[in-house]
Amino acid sequence: MTASPSTLHALVLAAGKGTRMRSSRPKVLHEIANRPLYGWALAALEALNPTHRTLIVGPDWPSSIQLPSGVKQLTQQERKGTGHALRLYRDRMHKPSGWLMMIYGDTPLVQSATLTRLYDSAVAQVADLAVTAFTPDNPGRYGRLIHDQEGRLARIVEYQDASEQERASGLCNGGLMLMRLPEAFDWIDQLSDTNAAQEYYATDLVQIAYRAGFKPIAVPVPEGDVMGVNTRSELAQAEAVMQTRLRAAAMAQGVTMLDPQSVYLSHDTRFAADVLLEPQQVFGPGVEVHSGAHLRAFGHYEGVIIGKDTVVGPFARLRPGTQLDEGVKVGNFVEIKAAHLHEGAKVNHLSYIGDAEVGAKANIGAGTITCNYDGFSKHQTYIGAEAFIGSNSALIAPLTIGEGAIVGAGSTLTRDVSAQALALSRTAQSETEGGGERLRRQLSHAARRKAEA
Ligand code: UD1
Ligand code: CA
Repeated sequence: MTASPSTLHALVLAAGKGTRMRSSRPKVLHEIANRPLYGWALAALEALNPTHRTLIVGPDWPSSIQLPSGVKQLTQQERKGTGHALRLYRDRMHKPSGWLMMIYGDTPLVQSATLTRLYDSAVAQVADLAVTAFTPDNPGRYGRLIHDQEGRLARIVEYQDASEQERASGLCNGGLMLMRLPEAFDWIDQLSDTNAAQEYYATDLVQIAYRAGFKPIAVPVPEGDVMGVNTRSELAQAEAVMQTRLRAAAMAQGVTMLDPQSVYLSHDTRFAADVLLEPQQVFGPGVEVHSGAHLRAFGHYEGVIIGKDTVVGPFARLRPGTQLDEGVKVGNFVEIKAAHLHEGAKVNHLSYIGDAEVGAKANIGAGTITCNYDGFSKHQTYIGAEAFIGSNSALIAPLTIGEGAIVGAGSTLTRDVSAQALALSRTAQSETEGGGERLRRQLSHAARRKAEA
């Protein structure tokens, strides 16, 4: 592998309308593994350490989106094709040198190694322009690479403009393009829109360069790397490829998965070694799992830290802001949100713990609910270390339960409980001798009279 180019202009094209997606959102904002398509393209470019990073977006791009630092945004007001987007970039740059790497924002599976290979091949073969070539199972509407009689890459023909014979060629354009600067900026002048789509095609640069005596080359890459996402179906296919990659990476780091196919990861899911995942787990963004954690079947997690040697589930939902320290146990049908459970705390059955701090070794009985929301604001619950909360307690926040306190089962608490105290809030139990039998008789009489009426 050679070094990265000294000056590299990295350009991600993301202005297209994405008509085939049938969505009100720009296509490249759709996500795989919880990262938008354009984000994957930008991330792949990072390995080349580009000098300039630019994202070309359409006029419908939401102004609320924060791009990673160092990434410039350019708006392509009229979307007249990929070549038109390139022209916009050229118009903003003054006499650049080095290389321009253009990648499409709808090509999320591209890996850094492929980009590096494109550059290395261009340097090794003393080329002026390099594109990727792949042979998909279904070549569909990809552009086709056309070679001359000497086997040199001569042009790319878009599907809409291709003859039957050209369409029959399965050698397709992956869409990435590396070109030498400033030469490529002159080629851009020669792009025209006299074609089936009446658009400026970036792919026409191959023929322009070839005719001007420059050397374009095609670098073969696997389909799994350059597959374009134009439809919801392709989005699902790309998701599947990415999930396979993320699972393999997690397993390589020491995660055991009983059924990898049923584990869904995010681009940023972090695992330590010796994590055990039972089937059916969904990891939203921002999850960190420490060593020895055992996530039992059917879990949903986002924005959480799952500590060392914790046991979670089956059927647990951990929501943003949850932190489980070492040895915590969270059992079945438990939901936790914005809560910190300290070492060895247990919430084993049917509970909701939200906006809370639970001290070390506290035990939260079945069915306990922190009533954290009054319809307007959220309130905090503090439970001291080694406190014991009896089953089916309603803890009405704001509330503090002191260390080592015991709360009797079925209590509804509205006032703080001191450390080591016993708190109970239930109506006293009464008993009437034979009352059950009498009541049953009365009720059956009444029912009979009703039936006869
Ligand atoms: C393009 C290639 C095709 C290649 C395929 C690979 C062209 C003309 N064709 O076709 O040879 O096989 O990708 O996936 O380049 N975009 C803009 N501004 C525009 C138009 C598009 O920024 O005016 C962006 C889109 O957001 C998209 C990318 O460029 O991310 C590619 O555009 P798209 O319309 O998807 O091109 P394809 O028809 O897939
Ligand atoms: Ca595309």
